Amino acid sequence: MKARRISDRVSWLGAVDWNRRLFDSLIPLPDGTSYNAYLVRGSEKTAVLDTVDPAMTDVLMAQLADVPKVDYLVAHHAEQDHSGSIPAVLEKYPDARVVATPKGKDMLIDLLLIPGEKFITVADGETLSLGDRTLRFIHAPWVHWPETMVTHVPEERILFSCDFFGSHIATTDLYATDEGRVVEAAKRYFAEIMMPFRAAIAKNLEKVRALDIAAIAPSHGPVYGRPALIVDAYDEWVSGGPKNVAVVAYVSMHGSTEKMATFLVGALAERGVRVEQFSLPVTDIGKLAMALVDAATLVLGTPTVLVGPHPAAVYAAYLANAIRPQVKFATVIGSYGWGTKAVETIAGMIPNLKAEILPPVYCKGHPREADFAALTVLADTIAAKHRELGLL
Ligand code: FEO
Repeated sequence: MKARRISDRVSWLGAVDWNRRLFDSLIPLPDGTSYNAYLVRGSEKTAVLDTVDPAMTDVLMAQLADVPKVDYLVAHHAEQDHSGSIPAVLEKYPDARVVATPKGKDMLIDLLLIPGEKFITVADGETLSLGDRTLRFIHAPWVHWPETMVTHVPEERILFSCDFFGSHIATTDLYATDEGRVVEAAKRYFAEIMMPFRAAIAKNLEKVRALDIAAIAPSHGPVYGRPALIVDAYDEWVSGGPKNVAVVAYVSMHGSTEKMATFLVGALAERGVRVEQFSLPVTDIGKLAMALVDAATLVLGTPTVLVGPHPAAVYAAYLANAIRPQVKFATVIGSYGWGTKAVETIAGMIPNLKAEILPPVYCKGHPREADFAALTVLADTIAAKHRELGLL
């Protein structure tokens, strides 16, 4: 795709990666993604903001073919999907200076072996003049690495936000015209990437709200021509608190744990608790992470394998602990054959959740009447807890 005009002085550059299906060898990308860079031309100087994933360097370099001079190459974030083509851009423009936070400079030297003399470091709030356009840099640590910054161009009323507010979508839409689809993708992105840093994001949201902006141009997904769309959504995800949602994520080998999970889901639904049910071996972990953005309760279902939990449940517990959702209650259900430490193992894996651990329901063999009665009590407890929080 060629460069696309945003204004007389600002162009979208970048690459749309329609076929990528996995990020960081971890995160599913059902809709692909894009790596957005931007060109800002002032009356005196020209800046490129971010680059693209190294696998698509040729796309960016073709877009820069008619750009004779670049003075500044702004690196908001050191992760390689945005920084990976910096060496190629510096080779074409050897006099350009890479603009980064001090921490960003150190990380880019480590990750890409860029010589230190190529950098200009900028403080929070510092500006660089391009003539009749200004780059104002705002440090935004932990969205989602510690070195990150964003750039405000006040004359254009645009905020270039890098990963902050991004969405993994491959699309030809320059702007977020299909708002529902973009917010859904941005929520997936928030859940997988940003959720562990809620407190830092809340502070950075305050900085964004203080700016006079007409557009937010992230480094993944479409540009927001209506900034409130994504700023308000982020506010809700960061500060809105959990909802009346229970996530029941389970794995079953011979059907016992599945019968327990299915029974519990039905009992919760009867009590007015909305449930997101996931069979872990076939679950898109992005969907699971999205459900955890809103969940007040997490129930992990696992059979016992070699005395411990099933590896699929271990993976889900590890993931939930890492992305730190705001769940208030958690427990384990499942079945074992002759001996088990599955419950203790899972409970010990989720210290970051700060959740009240509800009594588990763990049975020997096929669940019996008493086990279904215990699941009924668990459903009553979860509904009561949600009611106490005013969620139900
Ligand atoms: Fe899109 Fe943190 O890189």
